[in-house]
Amino acid sequence: MASVLIIDDEQSIRRSLSEILSYEKYTTATAENAVVALKILEDKDFDAVLCDIKMPEMDGIEALPKILEKKPDTPVIMLSGHGNIDTAVEAIKLGAFDFIEKPVDLNRLLITLKNALDKTNLITEAKVLKKKVSKKYQIIGESAPLKKIKDMIDKVAPTEARVLITGANGSGKELVAHQIHEKSTRNKAPFVEVNCAAIPSELIESELFGHEKGSFTSAHKQRKGKFELASEGTLFLDEIGDMSLSAQAKVLRALQENKITRVGGDKDIKVHPRVIAATNKNIEEEIKAKRFREDLYHRLSVILIQVPSLNERKDDIPLLAKHFIEQVCLEMGVPEKKIDDSALKELQKIDWTGNIREFRNVIERLIILGQQTITKEDILAFTKHSK
Ligand SMILES: Nc1ncnc2c1ncn2[C@@H]1O[C@H](COP(=O)(O)OP(=O)(O)OP(=O)(O)O)[C@@H](O)[C@H]1O
Ligand SMILES: [Mg+2]
Repeated sequence: MASVLIIDDEQSIRRSLSEILSYEKYTTATAENAVVALKILEDKDFDAVLCDIKMPEMDGIEALPKILEKKPDTPVIMLSGHGNIDTAVEAIKLGAFDFIEKPVDLNRLLITLKNALDKTNLITEAKVLKKKVSKKYQIIGESAPLKKIKDMIDKVAPTEARVLITGANGSGKELVAHQIHEKSTRNKAPFVEVNCAAIPSELIESELFGHEKGSFTSAHKQRKGKFELASEGTLFLDEIGDMSLSAQAKVLRALQENKITRVGGDKDIKVHPRVIAATNKNIEEEIKAKRFREDLYHRLSVILIQVPSLNERKDDIPLLAKHFIEQVCLEMGVPEKKIDDSALKELQKIDWTGNIREFRNVIERLIILGQQTITKEDILAFTKHSK
């Protein structure tokens, strides 16, 4: 049942609107002035608000921004007296959903309310959806080193700057890349991922830049490359430290000139993806050893994000443990297990060379093998501590 707050200084109007709406299966609350209404809104949510414009003390125009400040997503429908259209239009400009002229026409009221509620539902749906997506790539942790990373993501994401993410195996580089994309203005466009280590060097060029039909034996069809596919979105070059020198030279050109040529093609194609790269290699050493081009490094690392290892942020272990227990139990469809403080302390003593990935695996094992409440004994029995 949808709820409506009615704000009007005239008792007869409050009463009749309330009766009509109750009859139409709305729940209602009333307020005789804006001050009372704002108080009510402090601890109650409504699906819509009906607000009179002409009221003594605080009128509707003055009240509207205050209502919206408290409840930005709640549609407010203004009730305007006859000949008060200019004010009603002003209210719309201030963010009112719509206005209805007095005396209130029943049909018009019900239709306007229905429209308003449809809009609310849409907003809520969009929000739920957004939450779902970002939950998958949520970065858990409140430790100082991790907060620094989150701050950086928030600052860098809305810009077009290229980002190089470094960090040990399983430390969360991919997660950082996804977050940057999600928090950027390109988040409606694709996030295109290339694992540079997994693609044989003969194929990487066609993978990145595409190819024309017949350009090599197995090129039966023309195919777009990742640079083109990501042109409106984000191109994530994962494991860039493993890319061959010849591919590096081509990527460098694409980044410098914002254009590519498909393999076997002769025309230049303009591309402008936002590029994020990641590696677990020490790039400076790679440069010294002449395995990585220094000029490419400078192109890629406008912003450098160094993801800390789990050993550097053991303060996050309790939060991470709870997060993964919840996640794993949900995935397995088993009741959620608990973990006691002695177990958390024990987990903090472990040397997590495989970082968060290893940590999650251990939690999974503890959920399968441990007691309903995971204790220190479980940790000693089922982790590398016991060796
Ligand atoms: N801060 C975090 N909060 C929650 N989950 C995390 C966090 N960091 C990493 N993870 C999870 O740990 C796993 C490994 O993370 P990810 O794949 O991003 O690591 P990576 O640095 O790219 O590793 P690799 O170098 O091996 O490719 C993923 O399942 C990821 O969701
Ligand atoms: Mg990775």
